[in-house]
Parts: sequence; structure tokens; C-alpha cells
Amino acid sequence: MPTKIEKDSHTGTDTTGHVWDGIRELNTPLPKWWLYVFIATVIWALGWFLLYPSIPYGSGYWHGLLGYSSRGDAMSGLAAIHEQHKDAMDKIAKMPIADIARDPKLMETAITAGRITFANNCQPCHGPNGAGRVGYPALGDDVWLWGGKLTDIETTLTHGIRSSDPDARQSQMPAFGADGTLKPDQIEAVADYVGVWWGVVPASTDTKAGAQIYAENCVACHGEKGEGNRDAGGPPLNAKVHLYDGSRAFIVSQVNKPQQGVMPNWNTRLDPATIKSVALFVHSLGGGE
Ligand code: HEC
Ligand code: HEC
Repeated sequence: MPTKIEKDSHTGTDTTGHVWDGIRELNTPLPKWWLYVFIATVIWALGWFLLYPSIPYGSGYWHGLLGYSSRGDAMSGLAAIHEQHKDAMDKIAKMPIADIARDPKLMETAITAGRITFANNCQPCHGPNGAGRVGYPALGDDVWLWGGKLTDIETTLTHGIRSSDPDARQSQMPAFGADGTLKPDQIEAVADYVGVWWGVVPASTDTKAGAQIYAENCVACHGEKGEGNRDAGGPPLNAKVHLYDGSRAFIVSQVNKPQQGVMPNWNTRLDPATIKSVALFVHSLGGGE
């Protein structure tokens, strides 16, 4: 029940006039320093609300007097990085690829750009660092379908292999079995001959008939001794590296009705400087010639 406001004799502080069960409430003010800090934080917060994006409303939000956005911040950071590399990428676009490889500073930029491009575009098919997988050639070894020189790789990337680009690398292994050129027993024989190279058929096997069939049908694209033929994109058959699964059953199925891998052309998706950069990166993986 409210009573008169009076000074408490013990503390010298005013009472509020409230009394409960005979206990009177003292009117102790907030410490001055606390009050000032509190007011300062309110003013500070109001300032931030006004300067920066803060209050949402209906279909948008208050953008703030400074016009700041974290997205804009990131974009200008990216633009700065592009600007920084622009000169180098412009030079790379104009230079023949072999000359870039002789310029250590340009190479640094190219390999960095190439590594990022590879991870974003090539890794899904060719595996991390071009380790390869069934049907997708490893890019770090010495075995090449179309060639491992810088210009070979640049051409492969630019136009693709069996892609829709008119200048794509083309080669078509015939379907010897499906079109009746070879009979099943002839296919078995040539599979034995190639299988010995692959180590999936005992070396003691009689391969005379198979050798004859190979000489008549396969040499043009795979070479006399299975060394491959890059002009025809024919993989070597005497190497222990295989484009597909490397089994004897696969040789039979390939001669019957071949797999023909497709590599996309990148000239519609990447600019010439980026294609050169990723070609330099692929070349640096270990198999470059
Ligand atoms: C959609 C899957 C796919 C993607 C993505 C892809 N490739 Fe390929 N690439 C292939 C296939 C399949 C072949 C083998 C084609 C064949 O069988 O002749 C190949 C072949 C190649 C070759 C030729 C290798 C040789 O031995 O001559 C190179 C070099 C190559 N790719 C690099 C790249 C690079 C660099 C990228 C990224 C810019 C890339 N590939 C993206 C599927 C792909
Ligand atoms: C006109 C060219 C051509 C002829 C002729 C040809 N091939 Fe091929 N062969 C290819 C090409 C190209 C490939 C790779 C297919 C691909 O890139 O997907 C290939 C792939 C293969 C492979 C798979 C290689 C691997 O690493 O997995 C085998 C096995 C093979 N050929 C066997 C033969 C045999 C045996 C003959 C003869 C009966 C023959 N080829 C005739 C072009 C040819």
C-alpha cells in the first residue's frame, strides 16, 4: 500500500513509497555509468540499423544507407581476382601453347586456372587428377589415344572426340561380329592373340590363326605389334593399360560390337585461354610428351 516518500534513515536513500508487510522499498537509482553505456548501445544499434541492411518488410528489406551487401562484397573480390589475372590470361589466349610452357610466370597462372577448371569440368569423367576409370582414359600415364603433346591435347579438348563438333577427332572401330566380317570362332582366335598381350590368356596358347586375323583386320588402327595408331585414335593393345576393363571377354565383345567413347568439345564452353590452361595442366600430370 503506497505511503509517503521519505528518506530511509539507515542508507540515506529515498523510499519509493511502496510497502509490503512493513518492508519499504528503496528507490536506488541505476549507476550513472551503466545508464550512459546503455543509452550509447541503443544509439549505436540505431546507427547500424540505418547504415546496413536490417529490417525486412513485405517483399524486401531496408538496404541501409551505405548500400552494403555481402554478395556485392564477394563479387567485387572476384572481379579484383579476375582483373589481377586478366593480363596473364590475355597473354595466354594469344600465345602458342608451347611458348606458354617456357614462361614460368605464365605457367603458374595457367596451371592454377587449369587445375580449377579440371576439377570443375573433367573430374566427373576422368577422376581426380585424371586417374581415369573404365571407358574414361587415365590422363597421367604415357599411353595416349590421340597424342600427349601440348598441341595434341589442346586439339582434343577444343574439338572433342566423336563429339558434335565438325572438327572432332573421329575413328570408328568396325563391328566385325555384328556386321558378319568375322565369324565367332575367328573372334575367339583374335581375342586369344590380343589376350596374350594383355596377360589374360596363357602365353603357351596357339595364336597362329589369331595373328593372321589380326594382321588382316586390326593392324591399320592398332599397329602391327599392337603399338596403337594415334592417327586413327586406336589404343595400343600391347600395353597393360586398358581403356575398358581389360578382360578377354571384353576383347570378344569389342570385336563383336565396339564401344566408342565420346569426349565433349570444350570450344563452346571454355574460352581459348582456359582450354590452353587445362591442356597445360593435363600435360603436367605426368604423361605429357
Ligand atoms: C562426359 C565425360 C567426359 C568429360 C566431362 C571429359 N572427358 Fe575427356 N574423354 C572422355 C572420353 C570418353 C574419352 C575417350 C574417348 C575415346 O574413347 O576415344 C576422353 C578423352 C580425353 C583425352 C584424350 C586422351 C588420349 O589418350 O588421347 C583428353 C586429353 C581428355 N579427355 C581430357 C579432358 C579434359 C581436360 C576434360 C575437361 C575439360 C575432359 N576430358 C572432360 C570423356 C570425358
Ligand atoms: C578403324 C579402326 C579400328 C580397327 C580396324 C580396329 N579397331 Fe579396335 N579400336 C579402335 C578404336 C578407335 C578403339 C577405341 C574405342 C574408344 O575410344 O572407345 C578401339 C578399341 C579396341 C579395344 C579396346 C582397347 C582397350 O584398351 O580397352 C580392343 C580390344 C580392340 N579395339 C581390338 C580390336 C581388334 C582385335 C581389331 C581387329 C579385329 C580391331 N580392334 C580393329 C579402332 C579400330
